[in-house]
Amino acid sequence: MSKQRAVWQSGLGFFLASAGSAVGLGNIWRFPYMAGENGGALFILVYLLIIIFITSFALICEIALGKYTKKNCVEASMQIHHRFKWLGFSMIVSTLLIPAFYFVVGGWIIYYLFYSFSLPAGNYGDVFMAMTAKPVLTCTLAIVFLATCSYFNYKGVNEGVEKCNKILMPMLCVIMVILAVFSLSLPGAAEGLAFMFRPDFSKLNGKVFIDALGQSFFTLSTGTGAMLIYGSYMTAEHRIIKNSYSIVAFDTLVAICAGLIIFPAVFTYGVEPQGGPGLVFVTLPEIFRQMPGGSLFSAAFFLLLLFASVTSGISLIENPVAVLHEMCGMSRKKAVLLTSIAIALLSLPCALSFGILSNVKLFGKTFFDLFDFFSSNLLLPLNSMFICLGVSIFFRAKSDFHFKNRTYDRIFWIMTRYIIPVVMVIIITSAFIN
Ligand code: PHE
Repeated sequence: MSKQRAVWQSGLGFFLASAGSAVGLGNIWRFPYMAGENGGALFILVYLLIIIFITSFALICEIALGKYTKKNCVEASMQIHHRFKWLGFSMIVSTLLIPAFYFVVGGWIIYYLFYSFSLPAGNYGDVFMAMTAKPVLTCTLAIVFLATCSYFNYKGVNEGVEKCNKILMPMLCVIMVILAVFSLSLPGAAEGLAFMFRPDFSKLNGKVFIDALGQSFFTLSTGTGAMLIYGSYMTAEHRIIKNSYSIVAFDTLVAICAGLIIFPAVFTYGVEPQGGPGLVFVTLPEIFRQMPGGSLFSAAFFLLLLFASVTSGISLIENPVAVLHEMCGMSRKKAVLLTSIAIALLSLPCALSFGILSNVKLFGKTFFDLFDFFSSNLLLPLNSMFICLGVSIFFRAKSDFHFKNRTYDRIFWIMTRYIIPVVMVIIITSAFIN
């Protein structure tokens, strides 16, 4: 069953694919609304601390596990210890639950892309609600988004994604900077900046921590095995630490830039920062409507955002596909098809969560919110915690895995073996007690 495995064709290949996985809706859609719901600056501060001291180490462990085992998430987990097989399956569960809601948002992006050319003056909150409440429309769009991602998975990642990323990612960044500059010239800019950078510590509570923890894992694609599988296509020349910190820096800059676009607009147009999943879809059209050449900017922005989310979507699908292909001997085509059907079925309740299923709630949450909360805030941090522990205890003993820089090496093992697991258990339990 051991077939020739794919490897990244160029030095840049791994970085682009994994940055492509990291940068997506998590930065531009999820980050601003999470920050908006959790008091802005305070959330951003906690988020940055967690990224630096927890998630970046977890990312390194996950990539290292892939690179050194050259296996999919289930087999790699079994290389940590045979009792860790469940960890691989838990990662698979997360790569089925996340696309279930992620691809629904991907579908909204497609709608807004076409809507760009007919931006009327009006209440964009109503436009958003009207769109999400249409069952056939949202389900169809989610499936179109899913089919687009699966097509690339079927074709293989090297040819399409590796090449497109090189051109489209920088273009997305350029448009975002232009939008941020425009947004910062709006009358609500000062208030927006204060909301983002002046923390109000009286708002500190367990929810801020758990949401920031979940957001940090979600945005870096850590804990799903997406980074593990990309790491497994690395060659000996690919550097783990350099690449990981570059991904973290790039991803964080994109998120902050998204905040600089959204929050000045929020305060200028009197939108509630706690607007939830619709926040970006209500504020952005306002910005575009006011900008000279707004329709074109809007179309370009949503097209590039669509691309950024497709590259993340591909990395989500790649994980179960690799397991089915490598462990069950299924052809790549069949594996992609089976994974897509499973995701499509799981997406339906999420797509309908804003319309006909909006009153169906479990633990007080709609399917959309529940899948997001359960996977981002629980599964990803827990999976990552066990990856850190597994790599630092079992894997290090087996493979005598060290970093060249001795000081970093010591800090790394102390962090991953003791500090990160303890801090994560505290955050997760305190959030639930609250
Ligand atoms: N990191 C991606 C984003 O920010 C989402 C994602 C999560 C992708 C988990 C893969 C795995 O949009």
